[in-house]
Amino acid sequence: MRVRDLDAAVEFQTEILGLVETERVGGVSYLTCNERHHELMLIEDREQVGYDHIGLEVDDAATLETARPRIKAAGGRVIGDIFDGEPGIDRALLVQGPSGHVFKLFCGMETVPAPGPGDRPIKFEHVSLKALKTKPVERFLQDGLGFRFSDRMGPFASWWHCDADHHGMAVVLAPKAELSHYAWTVEDLNQMGRIADKLKQGRDQKLIWGPSRHGPGNNQFSYFLDHDGAMIELCADLAQMPPDGDYVAREWPNSPTTINQWGAPPPLKFIRAGFPIVQPRPVAAHTTAMAGSR
Ligand SMILES: [Fe+2]
Repeated sequence: MRVRDLDAAVEFQTEILGLVETERVGGVSYLTCNERHHELMLIEDREQVGYDHIGLEVDDAATLETARPRIKAAGGRVIGDIFDGEPGIDRALLVQGPSGHVFKLFCGMETVPAPGPGDRPIKFEHVSLKALKTKPVERFLQDGLGFRFSDRMGPFASWWHCDADHHGMAVVLAPKAELSHYAWTVEDLNQMGRIADKLKQGRDQKLIWGPSRHGPGNNQFSYFLDHDGAMIELCADLAQMPPDGDYVAREWPNSPTTINQWGAPPPLKFIRAGFPIVQPRPVAAHTTAMAGSR
């Protein structure tokens, strides 16, 4: 995420979510809640706030090579060459989907010693993309990135998985291509409550929606804004897909109650929330192009 004031943004993530900074270099903070080197990158940018990319881990360097033709055939574009030199990972490739959403495919995430005792999420879980035309995005997720279908709610929303979690990605019909939200797995409703208390007590900030339970994914949820206005979801009890679970993908009725099993339909603040896509810039000079090395 590109943030206006790095110190303030890091402070929000560490105070409210309990994230731990593992490294800060060149105006970029690397934050984690587990043994992965980072689950979130905050990049200081005083000119443009928005989301820089969505990180997707692949098996190995060979997968980055085979991704290129797949990405193009599925309606996306490859940005630059495979590069290395970034803290915490081996190498990566930037790609852009048909709606303009930017993904960093990477391999070789380093591990760090587990953070000490603290109240923090279990892991980074999923992102939700807003798009003007959802079909090309869905095709790109499926054919370009290898996601598999989970659930659908008419033409308005669909959910996609790449591992046991019911969704690692969601696509929502919207007037503009943006990031709807980014989501963390938390232990349970009690941990959501503790985070909501920290928001209220420390910053006099309220939740946008929740706590409640979604239909698709069956997860408990709460939503609020981070320091720069991007929407965060806390997620617990997410359905698990086979072979680790027994969830059956399905089509849901086009109704506001589909996405809220306990209470009221989403408020306008939730529907309108969006964090802009920062258009990709050339690969930084300190990195080494890896093209042709394999
Ligand atoms: Fe979500």
